[in-house]
Amino acid sequence: MSLVVPNLVTLKDLCVGYDTPLISGINLKVGKGEVIAVLGPSGLGKTTLLRTIAGLVAPIDGEVEVNVPNRGGLGYIPQRLGLVRHSSVWTNVSLGAKVTGLKHHDRERRVAEAIEKMGLQDKITEPVRRLSGGQQRRVATARTIAQRPRLILADEFLGELDDENANQVLIAVLELVEQGSTLIMVEHHEERAIEIADRVWRITDGELVEESV
Ligand SMILES: Nc1ncnc2c1ncn2[C@@H]1O[C@H](COP(=O)(O)OP(=O)(O)O)[C@@H](O)[C@H]1O
Ligand SMILES: [Mg+2]
Repeated sequence: MSLVVPNLVTLKDLCVGYDTPLISGINLKVGKGEVIAVLGPSGLGKTTLLRTIAGLVAPIDGEVEVNVPNRGGLGYIPQRLGLVRHSSVWTNVSLGAKVTGLKHHDRERRVAEAIEKMGLQDKITEPVRRLSGGQQRRVATARTIAQRPRLILADEFLGELDDENANQVLIAVLELVEQGSTLIMVEHHEERAIEIADRVWRITDGELVEESV
């Protein structure tokens, strides 16, 4: 008997957009452990595509199927980070662990590990709004690391980071991929994205084209 491994994400005749379509005719499947880079000029719908896969925007047409077991299975790192700005680093990273269903003690350990991995241990009690843009991005990444989602949707998550910080963040996220997570990342830094991606989806006006890498 062969074991059929279901796809993690299936996009079927998908059309994304708001009042009018931005990208149409998307038919794609994504498997476990894949790294996908979504590239293309701004304003064409990359963020909208991620938000549609995340279930935050309804498709105009077609279907999105995301095969993760629970709420904690999907991790979205928004372009605008979505942090609770008046709350501390610890509280923000805890929100990632909260959706895992783990026991309190295990959650706390994960939060501490993620904060340390992102080099934020000196900032634990600091309200997020007092941190620099790059530090805030590391908080958002730590939140996702604490969550360990099966599917990570990351929207320009290396933006505003200098090379050293970008590498630190990237290595931590790729560790999650090594443990079996799938990563779909929107990235404006094409070289960096292509270097780590298994697949490239290029958004052109109204279309998504898969390129060979
Ligand atoms: N909530 C919204 N309602 C209506 N239009 C939107 C909304 N969010 C973004 N848009 C528009 O959709 C287009 C694509 O935006 P976006 O998906 O953010 O593109 P990208 O991430 O590729 O830069 C833009 O023209 C933008 O103004
Ligand atoms: Mg965008």
